[in-house]
Amino acid sequence: SSSESRPSLVGAIDQGTSSTRFLLVTSDGKILSTAQVEFEQCFPRSSPYNPSSSCVGWHEHDPFAIWDSVAACISRTVEGLHGHGLDLTSDLLIKAVGITNQRETTVSWNDRTGRLYYNAIVWDDTRTAAVADTIMSENFPDCQDATNALRFKTGLPIASYFSGTKVRWLIDNVPQLQHDLTSQTERPHVRFGTVDTWLAYMLTGYARSIAEMENNERLAHEGGVFKTDVSNASRWMFMDLEAMDWDESLISAICGGSVCWKDSTVGKTIPATTALPKIVPSSDETIGTISGIPCPNLDNKLAFENVIIGSILGDQQAALFGQSCFQPGEAKCTYGTGLFLMMNTGEERTSSTRGLLTTVAYQIAGKKPVYALEGSVAFSGSTIGWLRDRLELIKSASETESLALSVPSNENMYLVPAFSGLFAPHWRPDARGCMVGLTASHTKAHIVRAALESSAYQAREVFDAMVLDSNIHLKEMRVDGGATANLFLMQFQSDILDVPVIRPEFLETTGLGAAFAAGLSVRVWGGLDEICKMWQADTVWKPRMIDAERETLWKGWNKALQKSLNWVD
Ligand code: G3P
Repeated sequence: SSSESRPSLVGAIDQGTSSTRFLLVTSDGKILSTAQVEFEQCFPRSSPYNPSSSCVGWHEHDPFAIWDSVAACISRTVEGLHGHGLDLTSDLLIKAVGITNQRETTVSWNDRTGRLYYNAIVWDDTRTAAVADTIMSENFPDCQDATNALRFKTGLPIASYFSGTKVRWLIDNVPQLQHDLTSQTERPHVRFGTVDTWLAYMLTGYARSIAEMENNERLAHEGGVFKTDVSNASRWMFMDLEAMDWDESLISAICGGSVCWKDSTVGKTIPATTALPKIVPSSDETIGTISGIPCPNLDNKLAFENVIIGSILGDQQAALFGQSCFQPGEAKCTYGTGLFLMMNTGEERTSSTRGLLTTVAYQIAGKKPVYALEGSVAFSGSTIGWLRDRLELIKSASETESLALSVPSNENMYLVPAFSGLFAPHWRPDARGCMVGLTASHTKAHIVRAALESSAYQAREVFDAMVLDSNIHLKEMRVDGGATANLFLMQFQSDILDVPVIRPEFLETTGLGAAFAAGLSVRVWGGLDEICKMWQADTVWKPRMIDAERETLWKGWNKALQKSLNWVD
């Protein structure tokens, strides 16, 4: 049949912390197919530059493993549909592809040699907690509240989470990068990017050379565009939230004075115009075109050749978009590796005095950017991963629901997963995890229950801060992410927040958001109203807990939290 009689399709790459997904969405907002590929997590035991240093809390990804997982998701999807008579290597059914990504994770490479300087440093890697302290003492030695000294311009506290501290660590520690930054010829070729930037560079580069090997080394030269969107750019500590552009004074405050190359005249900071990607709107048909993904089972025919990259969005912002939270005051909570609550605050930025982030939600080309308030919690799904992989208490996350329901309550036992300190609303890298209130009658089921409950309490901390900071009384919470399949957690979340929790029909909210933003750029959808109509509530959990019980639990959590916050003297 001709392509006119078939619906147009939009693709979305959802590159997350522990896996990559690819979705194909039809023009009526339905998911036609999905693919998922996990990739290796690196927790280095010793530093390549200082083998005796402790690497506790380090977390890295191989950028080529990320790239391979994306290429594999796409080729599998295309090969799978080929068997059903849909040829995505030649049909023009695909109108655009969107990119959404784990945010802050930082990749560094040289675009001339194609060499990576280092693995990608993942957002939850805590090696840069000390870097954050250095930045504060270098720039704000007498400031009582140095953590918040850059908040006005960046919307962010100074913390290991953001890309800026990761860049500073790289320039302080990686000899090749130090060399290149001080070399006249190499300095213009130094590149830093978040995962969206890396993927856009690879997708728009030459398909042949992006897979190229030289002496067993993967090389990434002949890449394509070097861009990021406003939502990802707002997570570096380098962007001025008002100007929506890189800010030289922020960059030099964060990177400057690096002792390693004090003598050099060229290298004291990074060259923003060449080393940092160009900031573009999140939904924009001019981002770049894909050079083609080879499909190994179809004689390496290229899929998606010349297809437009129609959107780039940080994954939490994409989830906000996919949940149709387009009005100020609409909010969502995503349960992934971490837990991220985000509220649309409209075209005006709202600053936080309670530990939330002011961030960019999205920008549609030709329109004003839209801001959001965000509370990022580092450990949510990863707490369950810890029970499974480290404590070996469970075999899979799906067991947790029935285990939690097998006991009538937490029986006064709490688990605070401050494994790498606490993010929002505390921003305390020194906090440590704890389990308190234990008695000999507690069982594995209580521990599992306490682990699930910890996500709900952490969401409540952020929720309360959000209501106070914005003066908006949140009447409901839209939820998405893996843990929304856990009926115990969803009911408990509604009970602890005391508002209805709403799960939409399609749970792939992050991928859908990127697809919607991409489709919007090429007019598959006419506007946000049309996208709103495709959002449908599926399950609603209403609060059932009596107030007294909620208060007792909340008090218990706060007591446990104090133990975590006060663990290190
Ligand atoms: O800020 C980090 C966040 O974008 C990672 O999300 O879903 O990969 O845990 P996720």
